[in-house]
Amino acid sequence: MKQYDNVVIFDHPLIRHKIAILRDERTSMKEFRELVEEITTLMTYECLKDGVPTTEIEVKTPLEVCKQRIVADNAVVIVPILRAGLGMVNGIHVLFPLARVGHIGMYRDEETLEPQSYYCKLPEGIEEKFVLVVDPMLATGGSACDAIQLLKERGCKEIRFMAIIGAPEGVSRVAEEHPDVKIYVSTLDRCLNENGYILPGLGDAGDRLFGTK
Ligand code: PRP
Ligand code: URA
Repeated sequence: MKQYDNVVIFDHPLIRHKIAILRDERTSMKEFRELVEEITTLMTYECLKDGVPTTEIEVKTPLEVCKQRIVADNAVVIVPILRAGLGMVNGIHVLFPLARVGHIGMYRDEETLEPQSYYCKLPEGIEEKFVLVVDPMLATGGSACDAIQLLKERGCKEIRFMAIIGAPEGVSRVAEEHPDVKIYVSTLDRCLNENGYILPGLGDAGDRLFGTK
C-alpha cells in the first residue's frame, strides 16, 4: 500500500498478541468483546498523543503550587459506527469516563457493499469537539468515508478515525477522500475477498461481538 501522512499503522507486540487471539475462530464472544475493548484502550493512548485539547490548572502539591495541563472532561466525543463500533466505546470510556457518545447507524448492502445509513444521533455542540470515530473493521472504506462526511456536514473539524483491522483498499480510500482526518489502524491485512470480507481478518465483527451467528 502507498504511504500516507495521515495514516498510522500500529506495530506493537502487545497489540499483535491480542489481535492473534481475536482472529481465532475459537475465541468466545466474551473474550472477543474484552479483547476489542483492551485493544481500543491501547490505541486511544497513542491516538490522543497530539491534538487533544487540554486546559491549564493549578495544583497544590505538599510542597508548592504548580501549573499542570489536563484533558477537559468534555473535550472528546466518541462516535461508534453501529453495530460493531459499539464494542470499542468502553475501551475509550476507561480513559475518558465522561466522554459523550454519538451514534451513526450503517450497514453494508450485501450485494453492492455500499453503506446504508439508518440512524444518526450526535451530542449537541459536537462541531467544537475532538471527535473519535470508531469501527473495528475498515474493509472497502465506504462506511468510514460516509460517517466522516456526515460529521463534516455537521460542522466537525477535528476528526480521527480508529479501526482495529484495515484492508489496504479501505485504508487508501479513507486516506485519500479525507486527507485532513488522521486514521489509526492496529493492523493492515492482506486484501478483501469477493464478498468484501477482510483476509485473513476475523470474520464479521458485529456477529462475533453480539453473538448473532
Ligand atoms: C461492518 C463493519 C463496518 C463495515 C466495514 O459493519 O463494522 O461498519 O462493515 O465495511 P466497509 O469498510 O466495506 O464499509 P456491517 O455492515 O457488517 O454492520 P454491523 O456492524 O451492523 O454488523
Ligand atoms: N465487516 C466485518 O465485520 N468484517 C469484514 O471482514 C469486513 C466488513
